[in-house]
Formats: sequence, C-alpha cells, structure tokens
Amino acid sequence: MDYSTKDAVECGSASIVNRLPEIGLRKAVSEIIDGLLACPKRISCKYFYDTEGSKLFTEITRLPEYYPARTEKEILRKLPLIHLIGSSDIDITELGSGDHAKITIILDRLSSEQLSHIRYLPVDISHSALETSIRALAERFPGLSVQGIAADYYHQMHLIPGERKKLFCFLGSTIGNLDRDEAMNFIRNIGDTMLPGDGFLIGFDRVKTAALLEIAYNDRQGLTARFNKNILCVVNRLIKSDFDPEDFEHRAFYNREQRRIEMHLEAQRAVHVNCPSTAKPLDLQKGETIHTENSHKFDVKDIHAVGEHAGLFLDRIFSDKNEWFSLAYYKKTS
Ligand code: SAH
Ligand code: AVI
Repeated sequence: MDYSTKDAVECGSASIVNRLPEIGLRKAVSEIIDGLLACPKRISCKYFYDTEGSKLFTEITRLPEYYPARTEKEILRKLPLIHLIGSSDIDITELGSGDHAKITIILDRLSSEQLSHIRYLPVDISHSALETSIRALAERFPGLSVQGIAADYYHQMHLIPGERKKLFCFLGSTIGNLDRDEAMNFIRNIGDTMLPGDGFLIGFDRVKTAALLEIAYNDRQGLTARFNKNILCVVNRLIKSDFDPEDFEHRAFYNREQRRIEMHLEAQRAVHVNCPSTAKPLDLQKGETIHTENSHKFDVKDIHAVGEHAGLFLDRIFSDKNEWFSLAYYKKTS
C-alpha cells in the first residue's frame, strides 16, 4: 500500500505501475481519521493489506477452517475455460488479485498457444502482493504478458485499459467485503464499461450455518486475529498514531439479519491513542469496538440480482456439491 512511490517495477514480460499516488496519502489519512472519529469507530478493510496483512491472508486461505478459498479453488479446477476465455486476444483483469493462487489454477490449464493471446492485468492495493505475483508469474509463464496495476479498484477503475476483449475476475468473495449497495453499484459501473462478448467471473460465498461461518473467522491458530489486529499497525504507519494492537481482542460473529460476518477489534482496557492529525488524542473505553470488516454472504437470488442490476446476462453458476461457494459467470450481451 504505497501512496507515494511512482517508480514502475519491471520483471521480464511483467511490470507494475503504481496508481495509488493519484489518490494520495492525504486522502487515505483523512478517510482513516474520519472512521476513527465516527461512532461506532471503523477502519476500511482495504487497509488490512500491507506486506504482513497480505502474507497473513495467504496463510488464512490455507487453514482447514477457511473453507471459501479451498472450495473456490475446487470449482476453478473444473471450470470450462474455453467458454470463458476463447482462443483470440483477451485481457484478463483480476480485481484484488492477492497472491495469484487462483489465476494460477486457470493459467496452468491453458496451452502456450492460449497463453500467448492473454494479457493478465492484476489490480491490487497491495504493492507487495503484486510484486510477489508478477515475479512468480513471469517465471512460471514466460510467454504471458502481465501488467500489474497498484490501485484502489473501487475508485480507480477508469485506469483499466479498454481496447481489447475482456474477462473481469473478482474472486474470493471479495465482493462481500463491500456493502451490498456499494457492491451492486461497483459491478454496474464495470458492466457499463464492458462491450458485447466481454465476461465477468465473480466468486460468492454462500449463506450457510452460523457455526460454519464463525469457525472460518475464528481459527484455532489465531491467524485471523493477527490479521485483524495488524490493521492497527498499518493505520499507525499511515496516520502516525501509536495504537498498541495488544490492547485489543479480535471479535468475529455472524450477523443473521444482515447475512454477514462482522469483524471488530474490542478494547481490553481504556485506550489512549496519540495522533498528530487529530486535535486531541483518540480515547476508547474498555469494551469499545472498531469495526474492521464485513463479509457478506449470498444466496442464488442475490447472484441473479447482481446481473440484473449491472445489465449483465447470468450465463452460468458453478458451485461445489454442498453449495458453500459459487462462481457466477456473467456476459455482456448488448
Ligand atoms: N482474490 C484473492 C485475494 C482476496 S483478499 C483470493 O481470492 O485469494 C482481497 C484482495 O483484495 C487483497 O489482495 C487486497 O489487497 C485487495 N483489495 C482489497 N481492497 C482493495 C481495493 N479497494 N482496491 C484494490 N485492491 C483491494
Ligand atoms: C478477502 N475477503 C473475501 C476475506 C473474507 O472472507 O471476507 C477476508 C477475510 N477476513 C477474514 N478472513 C478472511
């Protein structure tokens, strides 16, 4: 998450451009401070993903409790790729590409002839995740063109090149980390930029029992707790505050009414945080919480509604046998 360095990174046929300086550190700082002065306090989940946060997320995806990653990968291994990618020139733009584990499953299944037609555009706010990815992808797929874009996909979709046929991928159920209205509008905005024949593959974590969901966000090793607390280290660097993550406990629970897992950090004692950008120190009472993430869950009706709202045709839904996770493939038809 680098709001200042403009230097591009090159690695063989792969490169990264950093477009975050166009948002600027000042805007990020004021967004964080507004959230910390709000009642209840909140921090946007996009600030989870510094080098440590991205690394912790990858470890979470390997946990036995975190079924979404494992289940989505199972579905990806069976996807009818020719239907999605075809055999002519195409840009695959992945929003929130993370550690590239999922695109690797797709690329591994393609021939070198098919790879030669693909330009892969991973978009992620985490510069470190992009750097690791482009190096690994350049080595594994030397014929593949990779152009990483460090950007906030929610605010900077206008930066995505538009001239070729396109497949957008938004995997991991990262759509669930947006509010429901935000998600609808976000997908519609992308839908508006798509041309007939373009596709959109979206991963949706499905509604299921609270017990299964809560285990996935309260793992025994405490990795999700570390991931949650690490957001305070990211905030400390960005706004120059002095949060001590150890003053807080990780809380994650299923909110049935909203059909979402909520993550919070709960102050274990009265906490006093210094920050040069606020007129006075931030005070939290014992038990006060900071809301750090929502992870909405979806049913089939929601998956249809996303397509209808975005003006996209829902071509097919691919699910595992338990219907714990679904990948929906939408197409622009006119
Ligand atoms: N799609 C991957 C990673 C999911 S984690 C997977 O399924 O495993 C979410 C990813 O989205 C992280 O890599 C994070 O850095 C990125 N991300 C979160 N908010 C973002 C935003 N607003 N703009 C760009 N990337 C974002
Ligand atoms: C990235 N995103 C879809 C994950 C989720 O499940 O909402 C982030 C996460 N938070 C805790 N564990 C994983």
